[in-house]
Amino acid sequence: MKNKIKWNVSLRTKLSVSVILMLLAQTVFILFVIQSREVQAIYEEQKDKGILLAKNIAQENLQAFIRWDFEGVKESIERRIDEKLVYVIFYNRYNRPFVANDFIIGYEDIYQFSNLPASAKEGDSFSKSRKLDKGDNSPIFSVVEIEVPIFLPESPVKWGSINIGLSQDDIKAEVQKTRLLLVLIGFVGLLVGVLGVAWLTRKITEPIKKLVDGTVKISRGDFSLKIDIDSQDEIGNLAKGFNEMSRKLLLFKERVEDANKKLVQVEKLASIGHISAGIAHEIRNPLTSVKLNIQKLFEKNILSEAEKAYLNISREGIAVIEKFIKELLNFARVSELNLEYFSIEQIIEGSLKMMADLLELKEVKLESYCQKGLPEVQVDADKIRQVILNIIQNSCEAVDKGGKIDIDVTRISIQKESKIKIKISDNGPGIPEKDIKDIFEPFYTTKAQGIGLGLAIALKIIEQHAGSIKVISQKGVGTSFEILIPCNEE
Ligand SMILES: Nc1ncnc2c1ncn2[C@@H]1O[C@H](COP(=O)(O)OP(=O)(O)O)[C@@H](O)[C@H]1O
Ligand SMILES: [Mg+2]
Repeated sequence: MKNKIKWNVSLRTKLSVSVILMLLAQTVFILFVIQSREVQAIYEEQKDKGILLAKNIAQENLQAFIRWDFEGVKESIERRIDEKLVYVIFYNRYNRPFVANDFIIGYEDIYQFSNLPASAKEGDSFSKSRKLDKGDNSPIFSVVEIEVPIFLPESPVKWGSINIGLSQDDIKAEVQKTRLLLVLIGFVGLLVGVLGVAWLTRKITEPIKKLVDGTVKISRGDFSLKIDIDSQDEIGNLAKGFNEMSRKLLLFKERVEDANKKLVQVEKLASIGHISAGIAHEIRNPLTSVKLNIQKLFEKNILSEAEKAYLNISREGIAVIEKFIKELLNFARVSELNLEYFSIEQIIEGSLKMMADLLELKEVKLESYCQKGLPEVQVDADKIRQVILNIIQNSCEAVDKGGKIDIDVTRISIQKESKIKIKISDNGPGIPEKDIKDIFEPFYTTKAQGIGLGLAIALKIIEQHAGSIKVISQKGVGTSFEILIPCNEE
């Protein structure tokens, strides 16, 4: 089995390295082409200059050359020689050397041979780069050799030719300079390119990295993440889609959790209801017979006053048990809603009438405000009344003598849905923060005589109406219950 080493290279590195390599190859190639052409041009230019110079020297010495005035030509060309013009050779029409400066005579292979054929025409020329190397220890010169034919006036036949050698030292320096300049340009260009690539890859890979991080977070179950990429391109669109997805996932998760909670609550209520109903039935019959027997004893008038007082205590006890059973059965009864259009204001008024005695007894100051022109809502009036009674009763029990209860009914709009809001506030002791989550639980009570079913029943009824109920309470300040009931108008 082959053991492959896997390198974990980031996308950014991969992208940068490949683009930079491509850039490098391209720069080298372009510079190489430019360099060759530039050098070529430099050589061409030198060749053209050389041809002109050769023609010029030939013209100057034409008369002396025709007369075979060896001394005249020799003197003239020796004067011409300088560090650029290395040598001048005149060949006769048989391609034999006629006259040359002293320096070149030592270089046999150049001096002895003309490069132009006898048939050379006006405008022909020969040029070649070569090294002047005697083979001994004398210095080696780099020259361009240029030869052009010489004609007599009005004659097409070649009379002879002139061959000159131009030093290549300065031209080499120029080529060197050109190369250096190109390398410099290439380097700067490459540097700019590399910086550009670094910036670009960062711009491209940064959002991708954010997306990847986001995906990892989502896979760990954190749906609250929002990726802030707002570029108008594919990655921007991807980020938008991603955010939309995590938003929906979050919503979905919340719904599932909510549904789960409700399911647990419903199951719990159902089993409590079931057991309660059973117990209530079992107790009701014997209790009725106990009650009847006590009644009979009273009617027979055989009891002493003391015995009557004892039996009265028993009767009070029985009343408490009966109330308890009534509430239990009430809680257990899962009845269908009897929906009809009702005015909430009337329901509240009815409840207040039923509470009047209790309120008066405690000297509670009750203020009720109802917004004008509220529509009727489709509710089960008996059940809503029971909710309101339960809450007012709790408030009444919570406040001190002379306490205050406010009822406020208004219409509000939440997410374009119209709702009736019933707010019942008191200035009682409030509910400790830690207990708030428990008050809607069945059988949760802090009262000696309490059963703890009032708010559990209220919650059940309001949820049956697709409404909601919440409590806002501050210890020492008071408690408010807020009920929202959907208000679907006809
Ligand atoms: N207005 C209120 N102020 C203070 N505590 C309240 C108020 N309403 C309800 N509670 C608390 O919630 C508990 C549960 O109320 P409830 O379900 O009606 O049962 P019960 O009234 O039988 O105790 C009460 O025992 C009380 O501790
Ligand atoms: Mg109560």
